[in-house]
Amino acid sequence: MSSPVSYRLEGSIGVITVDYPPVNALSQPVRKGLLDTVSAAQNDASAALVILCAGRTFIAGADITEFGKPLKSPWLPELLAAIEASGKIVIAAIHGTALGGGFETALSAHYRCALASARIGLPEVKLGLLPGAGGTQRTPRLAGVQASLDLITSGTPISATEGKALGLIDRIIDGDLREGAIAWANELVAEGAPVRKSSEQPVPEFDPGIFDAYRTEVARRARGQIAPGHIVNCVEAAATQSFEAGMAIERAAFTECMDSPQSAGMRHIFFAERTAAKVEGLAKDTPIRPVATVGVIGGGTMGGGIAMSFANAGIAVTMIEINDEALQRGLSIIDRNYGGSVKRGKLSESDAAACRALISGSTDYAALADVDLVIEAVFEDPELKKTIFKKLDGVCKPGAILATNTSYQDVDAIAAVTNRAEDVIGMHFFSPAHIMKLLEVVRGAKTADDVLATVMALAKKIRKVPVVSGVCYGFIGNRMLRPYGETAQLLLLEGASPQQIDNAMESWGMAMGPLRVFDLAGLDVGYKARQALSDDEKGDPKTYRIPDLLVELGRMGQKSGTGFYTYDENRRAKPDPAVDGLIEIAAEDLGVERRSIKDEEIVDRLISALVDEGRKILAEGIAQRSSDIDVVYVYGYGFPASRGGPMFYADNR
Ligand code: 3HC
Ligand code: NAI
Repeated sequence: MSSPVSYRLEGSIGVITVDYPPVNALSQPVRKGLLDTVSAAQNDASAALVILCAGRTFIAGADITEFGKPLKSPWLPELLAAIEASGKIVIAAIHGTALGGGFETALSAHYRCALASARIGLPEVKLGLLPGAGGTQRTPRLAGVQASLDLITSGTPISATEGKALGLIDRIIDGDLREGAIAWANELVAEGAPVRKSSEQPVPEFDPGIFDAYRTEVARRARGQIAPGHIVNCVEAAATQSFEAGMAIERAAFTECMDSPQSAGMRHIFFAERTAAKVEGLAKDTPIRPVATVGVIGGGTMGGGIAMSFANAGIAVTMIEINDEALQRGLSIIDRNYGGSVKRGKLSESDAAACRALISGSTDYAALADVDLVIEAVFEDPELKKTIFKKLDGVCKPGAILATNTSYQDVDAIAAVTNRAEDVIGMHFFSPAHIMKLLEVVRGAKTADDVLATVMALAKKIRKVPVVSGVCYGFIGNRMLRPYGETAQLLLLEGASPQQIDNAMESWGMAMGPLRVFDLAGLDVGYKARQALSDDEKGDPKTYRIPDLLVELGRMGQKSGTGFYTYDENRRAKPDPAVDGLIEIAAEDLGVERRSIKDEEIVDRLISALVDEGRKILAEGIAQRSSDIDVVYVYGYGFPASRGGPMFYADNR
């Protein structure tokens, strides 16, 4: 096999090109090719070396598929030491994304240039890791302590222009990167620019108190993850010790993280997310229908967020509401949300205005005549949804995709009221829809392959993580939530308090405990749904007696200020002795003996409830694969990525 690294002398500049699709990851052949080429170039006619990449991106990181396997020589720190030690100046020329080990490679070069569109970053923390090839040591020497802590503990990439302001990038290239980089290399040679090693730069002045402050902050934010604390220690070492000592500290911390179950879980989720986007049995060349305009029906909690998700991706949206008042209410919530994003610095005023301008409203379904996709997000009422789909069948152009955001209803029954069941699909967003990453894509019995392929591709465009689900009550996520919630009710009756259950689950890593989730969603929603069921359908009264009693006392959750907890004006939950009393009465009434319950039992039973239902979902073919269920829970339900999702956790404990 030929090497993924090639070399060509362009005048007096040695151009080293990495060509290793899809993302030029630093697999062993790339590391070896770079080491051999940089070493050989020390003895040729070149005056300077430029490292750049072919394809869509600069090196996007170490090869994650090699993690957890025996190291193969040359290892990355060794390669980067060799690049930095080059007697000829080395210039990294960046396009696309220089991430992780890729950005560390650029840091080991003596100069860095980039296209303005490029992004740089150290996202290792998102894999439960820290930069393991000098990133924690070289970055602070160029960008200072504060910026490095921000960059490495968040893992969020920054633009090349921001990188330039921080001293991480020296020059932004306009036009062709290769030409621009070679021209700049010639300039540097002509100026006699020195070999400038990042490892030898002094760390700019810093406030010595910053490390303790940061340690406290990441301990709060990282909820039990070990990598963020290690990152602070490594950056502190960079600022207070020699480069060599700092590298040794980084190496030890990196190894500890790499061997941890946390990183194994997060790496599993990285690949699970990408695997979920692939649909078994769907041909790779399935045609995609163009989607340039979208209609959203209903401008409530979900409709507004869905409209924003499309507008944020540059796609025009028409929102339909029942009357002008409802439409104005829906549009003004969107205005408020964009205003909030501007205030928090997430969007510039002009970008927010451009996105907002893409959303228009109407009370007339005729406005949907030409849209390529419609997403229905009206009340969760099956008859209303069917009426709307009949209307859409009459109004929409042939080939338009008709989607429902229903949480529970039968997508096939909705499709059956139209004369185009093949164009109907479920697109189940999560609240708040402009923020939550998960999109359950519900494939009906008759959904056409190209409709499914189009929605999967579109999901990526609007920056969602799609997971295919078959049709069943609640699809993957909400169906699993039912036994989870019911188990929480049993635990309450048996002796645990709401706060013990929630605290146990949150300490274990869930973003929010189950009872706080129910209070947030509104206890009246489940209550109303139960009212429509027969006693048989409702199941064991032990699984719903407490929430029924709460609703009957007017305790609907956060919206009424009381539920499983009492809420203060800042929506902070406080335990309420009245709830404890009510639970005791319910337990006595239902003949449940109360006892003291350990936190481990709470976690064990709740997670087992999820996993048992997950296994059924898998056996029934509702989910394509076990890892898809993990993606649903991590991206839609606040399950800790560091545990790899419920199925991964159960299989690896
Ligand atoms: N190693 C191995 N495979 C990788 C990879 C990596 N670092 N990055 C991406 N891939 C694979 C993906 O699994 C996917 O494979 P598939 O087509 O078989 O599913 C393919 O490359 C394309 O990836 P995406 O679908 O994610 O492509 P996008 O264009 O959407 O995104 C990207 C590109 C922004 C580079 C994104 O892939 C990404 O964020 N990659 C991970 C970057 C990262 O975390 N780097 C740090 C690695 S850890 C490290 O470097 C440690 C060091 O400090 C020692
Ligand atoms: P909502 O009550 O906030 O909004 C529904 C909106 O639909 C209202 O503004 C209403 O005026 C409008 N509407 C009703 N009939 C209409 C019609 N005939 N034409 C046009 N507009 C009409 O409801 P929400 O929460 O946004 O839920 C909508 C759908 O999304 C439901 O199916 C729900 O199950 C689903 N969903 C809800 C989630 C949530 O967390 N709220 C999460 C995921 C899905």
